[in-house]
Formats: sequence, C-alpha cells, structure tokens
Amino acid sequence: MKEFTFSYPTKVYFGEGAAKRALRAELGKVGKIVMLAYGGGSVKKNGVYDELLQLLTEAGKEVVDFSGIMPNPTYAKVQEGAKLVKERNVDFILAVGGGSVIDCCKVVSAQATLEEDIWDMEYKSGKFPTTGIAMGAVVTASGTGAEMNPGAVITYEDKMWKGPIVGTYASFAVLDPTYTLSLPMKQVISGAFDTLSHCMETYLGSPRDFNTSDEINEAVMRSTIRNIRKLLVDEKDMDARSELMWTSAMAENGILKIGKVTDFQAHQIEHQLAAYTDCNHGQGLAAIHPVLYRHMAPEGAKQFARLAREVWNVDETDKSEEEIALAGVDALEAFIKEIGLPTTLSEMGITDEGILRSVADTCNLTAGCCKKFERDEIFEILKESK
Ligand code: NZQ
Ligand code: ZN
Repeated sequence: MKEFTFSYPTKVYFGEGAAKRALRAELGKVGKIVMLAYGGGSVKKNGVYDELLQLLTEAGKEVVDFSGIMPNPTYAKVQEGAKLVKERNVDFILAVGGGSVIDCCKVVSAQATLEEDIWDMEYKSGKFPTTGIAMGAVVTASGTGAEMNPGAVITYEDKMWKGPIVGTYASFAVLDPTYTLSLPMKQVISGAFDTLSHCMETYLGSPRDFNTSDEINEAVMRSTIRNIRKLLVDEKDMDARSELMWTSAMAENGILKIGKVTDFQAHQIEHQLAAYTDCNHGQGLAAIHPVLYRHMAPEGAKQFARLAREVWNVDETDKSEEEIALAGVDALEAFIKEIGLPTTLSEMGITDEGILRSVADTCNLTAGCCKKFERDEIFEILKESK
C-alpha cells in the first residue's frame, strides 16, 4: 500500500433537521460576524435561507450576505468574496449550496487571510495556504463531495483555465437530503453521475491488486447506481436521496483514495471543456466517459474487467479480459443513456472542433494510471465524443 496520513477535520451532521443540530452546536464556537454565502437564489425560494438566517439571528450573529456565486465559480467572484470578508471583518463563513458555492467559499476563506494572490502563491510559488477564515458548509445539491475536502475548482476567466485551488476545510458540514427536493431532477442525476465518476476515476488508479479502498469503492458505486435508478422511479424517495448524498461525500472525503494514486483524466478534460463552454460538470463528464474509457480499457484491462464484473454484472461467457473490460464500458454508456444524461457532446450543443482542440491542448494530462495520453489522442477522443 502507498503510505498515507489520514485524519478527519470536517464534522458531518446528516439527516432531516441537521442544520438546526449543527448550528446550535457549532455557532457558539465562532465569532459574531457571519458571512452567509449562496448562489443565484434557489435558497431563497426553497426556504433554506430563511431557516438558516433565523438560526444565525437566534445565536446573536451579525449576518453579511454574499450572493450570486455562479455554477463554475470564477476567480473574480473569489476575490469579491475575500474583499468583503476583509472589509466587514467576517469571523465565519457559512457556504450554502452545491459544489460551486462551497468551492468558492473554501478559496475565499484562504484568500482572505493572505496578503498575496492565492493563484500566484499556488501556481507560481508552489505553496499552499495554512490558514483561513473558519467555515461551515450546508449542502443543497450533492454530487461533488466538496463539503469534506479542501480542494476547489475555480475558473480563471482571463486565463481560459478551470483548475484546482487548495482552500480551507469546512469545520462542519450539514447534509440534509430534504434540502435537495427543490433541485431540478436533471441536476440531481448529473450530481449523482459526478459521484460515480469520482469513484471510477479513483478505482481505475493504482495499485490495482485487491485492496480495501477499492472494495469499499465498489460498494459506493453499486449504491450510487441503485439509488439513481430508485430516484428515477420515485423522485420523493428520501431513502435514495439520503444514500446519494452520502455516497457523494464518501467519494470525495479521501476514504476511497487511501493507498491509491488516482487517475482523474476525465475530470481534467471536463474542467477545460467548462472553461471554454461553461458546461454543466456532471453532464460534461457523462459525455466524455464512454469514449475516453474505450481508449483506456485495453491498457487497464484487468481493472476495467473487475469494474465490469463487480459493478456492472457483465456476462463474461466466452469473453477475453479485454472484451469483459469493454463490455463494462458499454454497460456504463447504456446506463448514462438510461438515466437521461448526454453520451455525446453535441447533445450539450458542443460541436466546434476549434474548442475541442483548445481543450485538448490545455487540459492537464494526468500521470496516467491506466494510460498516459498525448494531446492528439485527447483531441481524437473529444472528436469521437461529438
Ligand atoms: O445558484 P443557485 O440558485 O443556488 O442554483 C444552483 C445552480 O444553478 C442549483 N441548486 C443548488 N441547490 C439547489 C439548487 N436549485 C434548487 N434547489 C436546490 N436545493 O443547482 C445549480 C448547480 O449548482 P452547482 O453548485 O454548480 O452544482 P454542483 O454541486 O454540481 O457543483 C459543480 C461545481 O463543483 C466543482 C465542479 O467543477 C463545478 O464547478 N467540483 C468540485 C469538486 C470538489 N471541490 O471536490 C469535485 C468535483 O469533481 C467538481 O469538479
Ligand atoms: Zn466531479
């Protein structure tokens, strides 16, 4: 096993009414001025904002609003938030939303305690923040698992780059599945597919011999697939929503990555696709995965075949390991179609080959756990995904 250090800085409050339990337990530990950060307004329509405002007021907090955090959050928005934190002497940030709001706040938190620009610090000096304004995360859209890790994905518009920035861990996370009831079904499913992608990109890393992380991962993948199907039969199935909210956190809280080097090539491509087109994260991943995995599977046949067997239950009769591996990719593609997500980029309105070339030329190339790609092959994959 690869060596590791494991600790858990984020306390999770899960279930209906979790916000009340969390804020009543946690707010006494933080200062008076709280920044309430959210997106384009869904939290005002579904009552979550009012509920949290009441809890903050009861606790005697002074509230500073930070609104308008967009999907695919921008670096400019991060800087706006950090400026507001400094101007208003904010003691605590409560991020309320999906991955975009939580990611933006993780970086706002770190930037607000730094003199230097966080992008320059991380990308030019290779240093990472060690301080930040304390924060908590209230999840209203699950899938990214952003609430339990310090990593954020931010779009730097001037640089045409969407990439990782390390920010701050939330000290606590509220996961109340009832908060997801107002989320459009397409976004619920896109988020759940993002979870599945995180699992697969971790599973397909190395090492690939039997190991505890991969066996837990198989269970998380099976649960994600089963509960997406359950939810598509009954949108109000709270058990399925609960399971999906927890598999989302499990996929990105580090447990599945213990002892592994992850792959995440699909994510690197999708992030640059979003930099150029502002596309939806889960849907972009869905469109990229089948072709990318057909290019990868022959070189990682053993692990792809295990995925096919353990997660997709493919019929192995008379098949070689590579054929089993590819049958698993067929099953993945059929599942994406079944759940109504795109399996081609054209379904998302992305057809411009100039854009696809730019994505291929600028995306990160990972160490290549199954296969190390060259840029021309990424371009071919994107064209085949059209
Ligand atoms: O802005 P509002 O009005 O709140 O609307 C949002 C947004 O339009 C809406 N929404 C959220 N909760 C809702 C709701 N609408 C109704 N009812 C609710 N309860 O949903 C829309 C999408 O929200 P967003 O936060 O953008 O979605 P998601 O959670 O999928 O986050 C995507 C972002 O997370 C990054 C992605 O790259 C993308 O930028 N990721 C972060 C990761 C991490 N930090 O670990 C890992 C992921 O791989 C991913 O890259
Ligand atoms: Zn993702």
